[in-house]
Amino acid sequence: MSARVVAVANQKGGVGKTTTAVNLAACLAEAGERCLLVDLDPQANATSGLGRRANGHSTVDLLDGIPLRDLVTPGPVANLELVPAKAELAAATVQLSALEGGERYLADALGDGAVDAYGFVFLDCPPSFGPLTVNALAAADRVIVPVQAEYYALEGLSQLLGSIDLVKRRLNPRLGVAGILLTMVDARTRLADEVERELRTHFGDLVFTQTVPRSVRLAEAPSHGLPAIAYDRRSAGAEAYWKVAMELVERT
Ligand SMILES: Nc1ncnc2c1ncn2[C@@H]1O[C@H](COP(=O)(O)OP(=O)(O)OP(=O)(O)O)[C@@H](O)[C@H]1O
Ligand SMILES: [Mg+2]
Repeated sequence: MSARVVAVANQKGGVGKTTTAVNLAACLAEAGERCLLVDLDPQANATSGLGRRANGHSTVDLLDGIPLRDLVTPGPVANLELVPAKAELAAATVQLSALEGGERYLADALGDGAVDAYGFVFLDCPPSFGPLTVNALAAADRVIVPVQAEYYALEGLSQLLGSIDLVKRRLNPRLGVAGILLTMVDARTRLADEVERELRTHFGDLVFTQTVPRSVRLAEAPSHGLPAIAYDRRSAGAEAYWKVAMELVERT
């Protein structure tokens, strides 16, 4: 069976995309799935969060047509591999948008059996609906949309789902929304409750049953170059992402 390719996308910054991509990949790796994380953000947070740096090869080369197998590096836990990003990816983005068919470069790089050895491939997107995110959505089977539990959470969300649908119709009919994931939930606050209720009223089953609490351990783990499950497996954040990972398996 070929890999399930899952993009983690939202044009809003700081909503938990990278934390979600890193931790879901690590949980599924722990569950025995061979996982690949492709860092598509010039900020390279997923790369540094796994304790790696792009020495030489990076996602820039992947988009340039270098074979995936020449670019993967092992992550800090078993079964988890990474294609690192570096700042030069920002310049590559400009080129992508100028090239005919530039939205399909990643799909081509991950096609032709290149990811058959993996159970899951996660694509960590930058905080914009630009060429890198479009490339990710053109290459993905599913997209997870993390949403931060805050007052403005729902703003722009319907628009984002509309844009995802447009990519599906124009570029990638396989694409489906795996789910909207509520992140950074401050338990027992009225605001978090209200945001969750509103999200479920508007989007129903599209919202993951499991939510992710605000957890200091989740925020600390990247500075140790580790996913939460390796940094503190008993933390509330690690346990929540484990349950999200199991739910994702059911939803894909
Ligand atoms: N559940 C959580 N509890 C506490 N802190 C969190 C949680 N999720 C994410 N964070 C922290 O919030 C910040 C933003 O998270 P993250 O980097 O995952 O978001 P992002 O959507 O990838 O951001 P960007 O749009 O810049 O790529 C980071 O410092 C991260 O460690
Ligand atoms: Mg990020």
